[in-house]
Amino acid sequence: MLVSEVMLQQTQAVRVTPHYLRFLRRFPTVDALASAPRSEVVRAWAGLGYNRRAVALSETARVVVRDHGGSVPADPERLQQLPGVGPYTAAAVASFAFGAAVPAMDTNVRRVVARARLGLEAGEADAGDVREAARSWTDRRDPGAWNQAIMDIGREVCRPVPRCGSCPIAETCAARRAGRVPVGRPPRRKAGADAFEGSSRQLRGRIVAVLRECGRTSVSAIATRLDASPGRVAEALAALRADGLVAAGPAALDGRPGGRVALAR
Ligand code: ADE
Repeated sequence: MLVSEVMLQQTQAVRVTPHYLRFLRRFPTVDALASAPRSEVVRAWAGLGYNRRAVALSETARVVVRDHGGSVPADPERLQQLPGVGPYTAAAVASFAFGAAVPAMDTNVRRVVARARLGLEAGEADAGDVREAARSWTDRRDPGAWNQAIMDIGREVCRPVPRCGSCPIAETCAARRAGRVPVGRPPRRKAGADAFEGSSRQLRGRIVAVLRECGRTSVSAIATRLDASPGRVAEALAALRADGLVAAGPAALDGRPGGRVALAR
């Protein structure tokens, strides 16, 4: 459950499924994951992107074995203290795996709750009001199914421009009752800063892919292979090292061509 939710944090379910099944075959238990070298976990993460999540998951497995007797904690507060587990993932795992009555609030869920319960767009509503509305709306008989249902409605139906015609809760929706359902095209996201971040993130991802394939290598080999300057490679390596993904010595971090690099163990 924790593995699937971490994978689903930034990757769509259709893409996650094959990786998830393969990952569980490779690491069938928390113990297996905790005792695997970090580089193996990062290798098994290939294709999912946002490789920092692999480092966090590896660390979480080690913390679960060390501090929780090998069982993932059921309490959302304790779940949230695990590396890479934020309030949303903690609530999702606590409700799906342990039946805890806590709403898992992401952007989609906030949008559904704000509309259906408060008759507002999420941006107009007070965040505390939305949280409280979600808490009181949660079905205590099966909070996990409730969370999954609201997530699914948010993704498929109650989209920024909603498809109320196929919504199972349209009849009780406060926004519809108030005649406050948005129509028309959703605003398009601008490129700009996102595009820039995308390009350095892309370089980091490509470096990790090279290291997965060839183990230890040099800055110049990476720079040549990816057609990037040693300076840019060094910058990306510094970020990857800070994230616990790679081991790189001072020469590599300086951008010197002979500097050696590998996935962190
Ligand atoms: N995103 C994160 N967790 C999810 C889930 N369980 N279902 C759908 N989307 C999700």
